[in-house]
Amino acid sequence: MEELFSSPDISDFPLSLHLAMIQDDVRMKAFSQALRQSITPQSIVIDIGTGTGILAFLAARYGARKVIGLDRGGLIREARRIKALNFADAPVTFHTKDVICDELPRAKADVLVCELLGNFGIDENVVEVLIRARTEMLKHGGVMIPRDLRLMMAPVQCTKAYRGAVSWQKKQWDIDFSPLQERAYNTVYQTSGEEVQLLAAPVVLAAIDFTTIEGPITVSRVSITFRRAGKLHGLSGWFRSTLGDDIVLDSGPDTVQTHWGQVFFPIGEPLSVKRGGRLEVEFKERLAGDEIRWSWSGEITPAEGAQAVLFNYRAIREFPGYL
Ligand SMILES: C[S@@+](CC[C@H](N)C(=O)[O-])C[C@H]1O[C@@H](n2cnc3c(N)ncnc32)[C@H](O)[C@@H]1O
Repeated sequence: MEELFSSPDISDFPLSLHLAMIQDDVRMKAFSQALRQSITPQSIVIDIGTGTGILAFLAARYGARKVIGLDRGGLIREARRIKALNFADAPVTFHTKDVICDELPRAKADVLVCELLGNFGIDENVVEVLIRARTEMLKHGGVMIPRDLRLMMAPVQCTKAYRGAVSWQKKQWDIDFSPLQERAYNTVYQTSGEEVQLLAAPVVLAAIDFTTIEGPITVSRVSITFRRAGKLHGLSGWFRSTLGDDIVLDSGPDTVQTHWGQVFFPIGEPLSVKRGGRLEVEFKERLAGDEIRWSWSGEITPAEGAQAVLFNYRAIREFPGYL
């Protein structure tokens, strides 16, 4: 259930999303294990985008010497109250800071933790945020959680999601709504694992090492070969992120589902494809203020020797005060 209206000045993330994140066991266990693995009694931990303070509190519980939680949203006041209620004597402080625009604390962290992973990994601006945080607030040799991020993609059959959200071809109340179809193709959707069947092995669309990356990834290209026959409805996208030694957070369709689900990129009219057919995809991302623009285009060869079909779509997501 999502809020229709939020209380003013609370957070740019809806409260229901904060609850879903805290109740997402896969996410919580992965971050909790990674924190436990890296924290020593000497550690200074900085939690970027602390929200409710949950990761800062876990860092305190695992014995960090000092924990600093930063967030640009309005939950800092409540985070302080939660701290007073549960961790009164713990060395945890919270500060209102936008990690992109504001002057940052002078403190240097042994451990930087940041959960700004979007449905397709990069869509909450984690790359820009972590580059600045690493440059200004991480000690030499310090630990980053997460360490890396891989954007995964696979062509999928997704009948239920396609019919439920994308297809405007069928008449409704005997009225032809097909002029809306093009708009529906230029849209990104959210699916959850059970709705999609992979038609090829997933490929890594982009791989980001947070410990070294210097600038955002804007264009990625991949070639995919269909491993099985089926109806191609679009592309499924998700992420894999290494949070620590042997700790990988995977939001893919073939594993335990998380609150992220997957993103679904339509590719136009569904196409019957055969094993051995091919797909070339180019994915572009552009961030402009509080707007994120994605485009996905390419060429589908449904079967070996068949004529190629081109696709080219784009979608804009606006986050007022969110990115
Ligand atoms: C996905 S939530 C994670 C909250 C919490 N760390 C958790 O794990 O449950 C991301 C948080 O980052 C904050 N945020 C987003 N962009 C930010 C920025 N540029 N500077 C500081 N905080 C930011 C949001 O307000 C939000 O509270």
